Amino acid sequence: MGTAILGTGAYLPERVMTNQDLEKIIDTSDEWIQTRTGIRTRCIGGKGEETYLLAARAAVSALEMAGVSAVDIDLIVVATISSHMLMPSCACFVQKEIGASKAFAYDINAACSGFVYALDLADKYIQADPGKKILVIGAEALSSRTNWEDRNTCIIFGDGAGAVVLGAVEGDRGVIGARLFSDGNLWSLLHMHTAPSCNPELLQSASPGVHIVMEGREVFKYAVKAMEEAILALLEQEQVALDAVSLVVPHQANVRILNKLVERLGIGAEKVFINVQKYGNTSAASIPIALDEANRASRIQAGDIVLLCSFGGGFTWGAALIRW
Ligand code: UT7
Repeated sequence: MGTAILGTGAYLPERVMTNQDLEKIIDTSDEWIQTRTGIRTRCIGGKGEETYLLAARAAVSALEMAGVSAVDIDLIVVATISSHMLMPSCACFVQKEIGASKAFAYDINAACSGFVYALDLADKYIQADPGKKILVIGAEALSSRTNWEDRNTCIIFGDGAGAVVLGAVEGDRGVIGARLFSDGNLWSLLHMHTAPSCNPELLQSASPGVHIVMEGREVFKYAVKAMEEAILALLEQEQVALDAVSLVVPHQANVRILNKLVERLGIGAEKVFINVQKYGNTSAASIPIALDEANRASRIQAGDIVLLCSFGGGFTWGAALIRW
């Protein structure tokens, strides 16, 4: 019995922001952004495109593909760092929005690794109780958590959501395994504060603002090394050869990070799915958006082994293997 992906879905906001649009608001250039990141455009949410609404639309699309009704979902897990409210969770808003009346729902925060973490969690629920149907969603409105005056970060991020429906199936289809890692010692290289504390004793001396702060060059170095190590550890754990992997669907942070990964692992570039040029870095949403795009473009066939890998704030990183 395996935990299979029964359907995938994604939703991207309507408004597309180009590098030329960014040239008008900060000191940057299309040439710099494309050379350093590979990004050309990103989607930016507007009215009616709050994080939970992006998540709900991605979920509905995944449910349709799976042929599963919202009322049959037992659990909704949303990976996000940019919910429109701190409480209730984004997942509770999704539950309400799609009418998943019997589901319990909660969010997890593992930054850009959130989807891989949530997938592993859902796999373990289903292994313990094969009757369960679970929605795992990665959803972000990072435009609401970006310092639009900081050219080091605002050119990178985008909004969007991706979702998968998981359920038990007979045979060898499904999640093969995962390896997850964290290192809180490195938190300061990539972080985001909450709003100032109401308790004066716990007040920060100066509120830095609720937006992403990143030491890009340092994060870059760790990201390449950590994802490579997670992939090799997972392949070893599951006794799967790299050659047996049909498609790698990585977290979409920067095309240069992905090129370096390809070089270090010695895999064919055609085996790595990349769409960062269109959507930028959508944090926890990037892998499920890419997975849905690859799936709908028939880049993944039944029986294929798909490898996911991620790196993000925390630091958090990991990899997962799925037999489609
Ligand atoms: O999602 C998971 C975690 N995030 C990541 O994985 C992101 C990892 N990091 C990166 O993708 C890259 O480090 C960035 C794209 C953020 C930056 O690229 P970089 O090649 O590491 O550039 P840098 O930060 O070393 O900056 C190089 C130069 C600097 O100028 P000086 O000091 O050399 O004169 C920056 O001030 O580029 C300048 N710069 C810019 N110039 C034009 C930084 N941002 C911009 C910009 N436009 N937007």
